[in-house]
Amino acid sequence: MNVPGPIPPHGGRLVSRFDSSLVDVLGRPRLAITPRQQADLDLIGVGAFSPLEGFMDKVTYDDVVEGMRLPSGLAWSIPITLAVSDEKARELTGADTVALTDEEDHFLGILELEEIFDIDLSREARMVFGTDEQEHPGVAALYAHGSKCLAGPVRVARRMPLDAASENYRLDPLAAREKFDSHGWRSVVGFQTRNPIHRAHEYITKVALETVEGLFIHPLVGETKSDDIPPDVRMRCYEVLIDGYYAKDRVQLGVLPAAMRYAGPREAILHAIMRQNYGCTHFIVGRDHAGVGNYYGTYDAQHIFEGISIPDELGITPMMFEHSFWCTRTGGMATSKTSPSGPDERIFLSGTKVREMLEAGEAPPAEFTRPEVAKILIEAAAASGSG
Ligand code: ADX
Repeated sequence: MNVPGPIPPHGGRLVSRFDSSLVDVLGRPRLAITPRQQADLDLIGVGAFSPLEGFMDKVTYDDVVEGMRLPSGLAWSIPITLAVSDEKARELTGADTVALTDEEDHFLGILELEEIFDIDLSREARMVFGTDEQEHPGVAALYAHGSKCLAGPVRVARRMPLDAASENYRLDPLAAREKFDSHGWRSVVGFQTRNPIHRAHEYITKVALETVEGLFIHPLVGETKSDDIPPDVRMRCYEVLIDGYYAKDRVQLGVLPAAMRYAGPREAILHAIMRQNYGCTHFIVGRDHAGVGNYYGTYDAQHIFEGISIPDELGITPMMFEHSFWCTRTGGMATSKTSPSGPDERIFLSGTKVREMLEAGEAPPAEFTRPEVAKILIEAAAASGSG
């Protein structure tokens, strides 16, 4: 294997499209991309989206939307496109290279423009998100970007900025793989989260860790819904929790600079692919993974893996967990697989429930969240309420 880490990247090779020597040549057509698109550009640049080297062309797009595969046959569940307005697409027609910038016109990198194609937003929404309702935040983001896609390989000059707390834990796929090797881990389970780690999350990560050598706590720190807890607050929660409640030599913390799509099952596959690229051999999929509202069934994100052949189409192994809860009968965390309790003996813990309590100024009980984490969340809720 030509890369460090216990598992090859998706497709066998870790892509690197970063080139800090790239310069912004005057006279090139320019395109200001959104923070979501910049997150995708960054993930392509560091190889988190290996084997992608750029934004998808029409053939790839159709294979992904319809069949959840790349043309090579590898699993891929969500299109990675650079969508723009009709007007912008007209303006860029005929260009060979496009300078990509952020919304303040800072140069980010270059797209070698190979194709411009149309997409049917409603079809993509229904196929990928299972709905075309614009109340769904992922569907709203899809519609906001436009229906002309610019395709081609990219080269990336500048990293996506992160908040200061997340920046301390920036760990690119290659660096994460080197870390895993330096820890001597031959198996690593990746944990996606967009929330503080509550007791249910802690439970499933520890049960998973019992069967592998290392745990990669890998919170997503790109754009999330406005009512999700911001990354700087979450990072402090992860620090106190790891410090007080985990075996530190078995845990690695790093951030994923991706935006949430809230695509439930399809996003679970994309999350798994990215974690394989970061070097994880296993990936946790619990209840309503990457879900929002009531759009997906509790275990849809687990069932979708049944249609994927492992390791031929996807190398990483999903580890499924039932909805876990605090069990008053056994006095610990449990699931219906492990506890004989009845419904009134189960305290279900969810991020949403905790959020509601915090908004009401109440401390979540110890069955919900560790007191050190609760303290940070209460202070943050009070500060955001007063500010
Ligand atoms: S997510 O959008 O990143 O999936 P969240 O941060 O709440 O949301 O969940 C992180 C992971 O923990 C996901 O795999 C999710 O399915 C799992 N999870 C969250 N809460 C529970 C629970 N009570 N029981 C089992 N799994 C859970």
